[in-house]
Amino acid sequence: MTAHATPAAQPEPRAHPGVVSADDRGLQRRGRDLLFAVATALRSLQLYPLENQTVVSALAELDAVTQDLLSVEEQITVRFVGDFFFVNDLRLRVDLQSYATYGTVGRALSRHGIGELEVFRGATVPEWTALLALVNADPDPEDRFGAFLERLGRTAVLHLAVGADRESEPDLRDEESRRMAKRAYAQTVAVAREVMGGMRMGKGVSMRPVKRAVQSIVDQVLSNETSIVGLTTLRDYDEYTFTHSVNVCIFSVALGKKLGLHKHQLYELGLGALLHDVGKARMPLDLINKSGPLTQEEFRVLQEHPTEGLLSMFDMRGLAELPLRAMLMAYEHHMKVDQTGYPVSARPRDPTLFGRIVAVADAFDAATTKRS
Ligand SMILES: [Fe+2]
Ligand SMILES: [Fe+2]
Repeated sequence: MTAHATPAAQPEPRAHPGVVSADDRGLQRRGRDLLFAVATALRSLQLYPLENQTVVSALAELDAVTQDLLSVEEQITVRFVGDFFFVNDLRLRVDLQSYATYGTVGRALSRHGIGELEVFRGATVPEWTALLALVNADPDPEDRFGAFLERLGRTAVLHLAVGADRESEPDLRDEESRRMAKRAYAQTVAVAREVMGGMRMGKGVSMRPVKRAVQSIVDQVLSNETSIVGLTTLRDYDEYTFTHSVNVCIFSVALGKKLGLHKHQLYELGLGALLHDVGKARMPLDLINKSGPLTQEEFRVLQEHPTEGLLSMFDMRGLAELPLRAMLMAYEHHMKVDQTGYPVSARPRDPTLFGRIVAVADAFDAATTKRS
């Protein structure tokens, strides 16, 4: 294992202000750049002959990114485990855009049983070209990693090396369940976007797709919990409001499962959890997306979102299908058992169990999101 040779010693330009933390932003950004450059180079080598300008510039870019990384790190070890990429043991953060790119690179390498790629100082464009051409070639069906090593040994590549997958053979069922979880997640994000958008435009919201999405989340938590919970680490900052709603839905259902709730109770819980912040659709967008500290007046307005959420659910089409308990979750998710939260109740009241579950899930997602 390689340690960070120079853990981001000099100040770096910030790729995503307010998102990337100070300690690792150099490596975080450079690692991401490297994977994007590898993906582009692999793709252009598949499409065009070597002398093509697209290939030439893709390889030049890859070379530049590599040199940049090697100017601060002694060597580069890119490792991937499951859906995650590590560059010198720093886990690259993933958003919806990079997720696809990392996946492409991961699949290209794992076809040959490669789980690790090492880059040493002195790596050249011809070396990259040779290695990536081998990655693009068909794997040997008998011994994919062994054959790859043997082919690599016949080239003049000295400053690039590969390591085998830690896991032996990839389990097809794992692949399949990850794919199902991803689909449920993406569909639910789309539904959340539509509900919030529809409410903001004052349009009626149909409950059927919402319910279907929540059912798919519940099914995933019951049968495929690791995959679906793993997806909550995806962060897309432009979609924060929607991914947050979906994450709170997933965490709430997972908590409910731990508490031994029945499947139909989990549906209800998940539905309310997905809609818990729906009142924010009635607040100005500038306020919802404001990154700095809020003024007292802004905070007062924001504190209305649980009540606005409850009220706006009365307007939703198919109200009869929306259980009262789900509506209470929106109303109660910022209340605290000791009555210190908001909205403040005139009479002492205990938030419902579902309201408390959503409160915990909400706080957990907020705490694990790096957001200004
Ligand atoms: Fe909230
Ligand atoms: Fe929330």
